Amino acid sequence: MLKTDDLKESAARAALDLVTDGMRLGLGTGSTASRFVAALGERVAAGLNVVCVPTSDATREQAARLGIPLTTLDETPRLDLTVDGADEIDTQLRMIKGGGGALLREKIVATASDRMVVVADDSKLVSVLGLYPLPVEVVRFGLMATIGLIEAIAAETGCHGAITLRPGAADAPFVTDQGNLILDCAFGTIPEPEVLAFSLKRVPGVVEHGLFLGLADLAIVAGKSGVRAMRRAGA
Ligand code: 5RP
Repeated sequence: MLKTDDLKESAARAALDLVTDGMRLGLGTGSTASRFVAALGERVAAGLNVVCVPTSDATREQAARLGIPLTTLDETPRLDLTVDGADEIDTQLRMIKGGGGALLREKIVATASDRMVVVADDSKLVSVLGLYPLPVEVVRFGLMATIGLIEAIAAETGCHGAITLRPGAADAPFVTDQGNLILDCAFGTIPEPEVLAFSLKRVPGVVEHGLFLGLADLAIVAGKSGVRAMRRAGA
């Protein structure tokens, strides 16, 4: 039987077919994206010419170790393609991301890209988003007030559930690469992701949320019967 790790590997390697010489790439974060970075490193070692913007310090370190040429969005503000993983993907390719805590840079990089392709094993496919707790990146200042506002606006959009501060090492909270905190919102279901996404951005303490809507145009999903491509309608 194929293990989840094998499925992640298959999806990540299939995405390499989309990479052509000279591309400017966004590199995602997480265990599936890191398989893509590893496979890309092999191609670069064999002569592929690309330049890449990583979405986290961890991905930057991995790519640098593999000799993948790196740039920044300041030097290269527009990218051809970003390949990243996801925590949940629905049939419209709306996603929850941020399980690895990199959602802010991931969203900035995906938005700066002509195409975003998501790579995943089929356990990430859902009919309704929300079983995976929605990560929301917040500033430290006013944390309790921000939590209260998120609870209130989430309830207005039919979302209820515990909001917890993501723990890090040694009893300290998890801190993102941008120096912020992550709230994990266990809503169970998110009936109207667009409405929730819009409302969350009205909370001043919210830096960004893990709802990625209308960003991915293709999902490469590996399951026990093989790898399939899911396209976003109208993309
Ligand atoms: C990191 C992310 C990841 O893409 C997401 O958590 C999926 O990770 P994995 O491929 O390890 O399941 O959003 O912030």
